[in-house]
Amino acid sequence: MRELTAWEIETQAQRLYGLLGNVTDFKTGGKHTLEYCRAIAPYALAINNLKKENDAVILAHYYCAPEIVYGVADFKGDSYALAKAAAEFSGRNIIFCGVYFMAQTAKIVNPGKRVYLPPAAAGCSLADGIDAETVSKLKERYPDAAFVCYINSTAEVKALCDVCVTSSNVYDIAAALPNERIVFIPDLFMADNIRAELKRRGVKKEILSFGATCCVHDKYTVRDIEKLRAGHPLVKIISHPECALAVCQASDYCGSTSGMLEYVRKSADKEFAVLSEDGIVNSLEFENPSKTFYSVSRPCGQMKRNTLDNILAVLKDIDKAPQIQVPEATALKAKLCIDNMFKMAGKK
Ligand code: 13P
Ligand code: SF4
Repeated sequence: MRELTAWEIETQAQRLYGLLGNVTDFKTGGKHTLEYCRAIAPYALAINNLKKENDAVILAHYYCAPEIVYGVADFKGDSYALAKAAAEFSGRNIIFCGVYFMAQTAKIVNPGKRVYLPPAAAGCSLADGIDAETVSKLKERYPDAAFVCYINSTAEVKALCDVCVTSSNVYDIAAALPNERIVFIPDLFMADNIRAELKRRGVKKEILSFGATCCVHDKYTVRDIEKLRAGHPLVKIISHPECALAVCQASDYCGSTSGMLEYVRKSADKEFAVLSEDGIVNSLEFENPSKTFYSVSRPCGQMKRNTLDNILAVLKDIDKAPQIQVPEATALKAKLCIDNMFKMAGKK
């Protein structure tokens, strides 16, 4: 790697400051400073140079730190958009900034590519919340049910399910399935939201659910919303369907990460509180500089394990860096489950 000049570093720092200056640095609670941008500029420069040399693309979930999402990523998105982007990538290397199940999904949908997760291991309380053995037993117990898994699940669990969903398509896919009974895994709170939404749409189905909750979104309560509304009478409350049903129902909008971006973009309101992960607030701030976002979001510690440092480490020695591997037999079955989602989500 060649030496970077002082001029290159300062130009990069100014570029980063232009992008991040209005965005909250949740580590300090203030906005990103020029000083901070000067400190990260050499990393961003080196990453952006090495990406081209290595025929690599960086895909980043919105929950990653803003210096990744806006400083070095080629494509940012929610789980659905990232899975699609991975499937369509024609280069050699995918650096996936997210958590393990997301990088695994990228490998499954595009098995010919080398896929890297910069922190190597980054879990998710949902994906870790149910294993394949439990799902196999459930399939024996409910042979007539459609098995639907949230994308936040392992490859082994996906391999046993009929279709997977993300928060951006879960209700449409659940409603379109012919089965009267659906076993939805592993998000117990999202299952409550599916029941409520299908009832609202007049769709009769039995939704059984097993698994866990998201350790970031399950902390929000209706009391949080009451306090926000008392302090800020004009605030619009936004939540993710991984929050409890009562929280979602007490919100002005509840939807996927990309749905939240669209809601705020189109809204004439000026004040918002987002019951979700810090990174989505960063993207909302980035896209809506004239709107106010009250601080109520939480960090996903696993998403935040992606750093400029570990992205650079992968790119510096890409032939030796650990790749995501999925056993072929599992990957082939899991791909059918994900492809069924692409087909059903595309029919809208
Ligand atoms: P999205 O599908 O909205 O990107 O959410 C992924 C996730 O992990 C939310 O906690
Ligand atoms: Fe998993 Fe929750 Fe983190 Fe999303 S926010 S990756 S669901 S732990």
